[in-house]
Amino acid sequence: MGDQQILIIGAPGAGKGTQSKRLAEEYGLEHVTTGDALRENKDVETEHGTPREYMEAGELVPDELVNEIVKEALESADGYVLDGYPRNESQVEYLEGITELDVVLHLEVGEETLVDRLTGRRVDPETGDNYHVEFDMPDDEEIRERLEQRDDDTEETVRERLRVFEENTKPVIENYEDHEGYVRIDGEQSPDEVWDDIREAVNERTA
Ligand code: AP5
Repeated sequence: MGDQQILIIGAPGAGKGTQSKRLAEEYGLEHVTTGDALRENKDVETEHGTPREYMEAGELVPDELVNEIVKEALESADGYVLDGYPRNESQVEYLEGITELDVVLHLEVGEETLVDRLTGRRVDPETGDNYHVEFDMPDDEEIRERLEQRDDDTEETVRERLRVFEENTKPVIENYEDHEGYVRIDGEQSPDEVWDDIREAVNERTA
């Protein structure tokens, strides 16, 4: 197991999930993702309602809930890649109180590419693997037939998620530019090219 403490941050559809999987495999890290954790607990009743209500509207789930998820996950992980958190200033403060980051990978992708990627994304419910209707469909017909669209990947909800990102998460990224482990990655490249840049950045900063 690796001990690198890595944050991957960027807009919805920037490729955080895709690249986090590779990071977790290559370095033996825990993939800590608030999005997946919330999807697994969508209908859990809390004093603020269920995560589903927020997620299907493209809004942020209340901080108390996501902070708790991240705290528990980081407590049991040596090295990790953190994906989908923090998304606002109050989550940044909470995170700073529980851990330190070695590397901050900022995946940068333009808005129209993000909309195409998200509305075309399809997920294999059995493995969690992501595909895309235009760029990346599985050869296996059985897999193709069982693919599903995420509830929040409709164009209307995608636009709202991007608005929420601009308002809440973009300022968070701007502040991370001063972090010594910060690196901007061109996320418009192919997944393999993005991965090459990520691996180089992580190796340089954690050697
Ligand atoms: P979450 O699940 O975290 O979604 P997100 O941040 O909106 O990001 P995505 O998973 O949609 O995209 P991604 O960057 O991982 O891209 P991917 O690799 O899949 O959050 C969902 C919701 O949960 C939020 O809206 C909120 O309600 C709630 N939530 C989560 N965290 C929260 C928090 N901290 N606080 C409050 N609420 C929270 O790639 C996308 C597509 O593009 C795929 O089809 C993929 O195959 C394709 N692709 C990837 N890379 C490339 C490439 N280089 N070239 C071409 N295609 C590519």
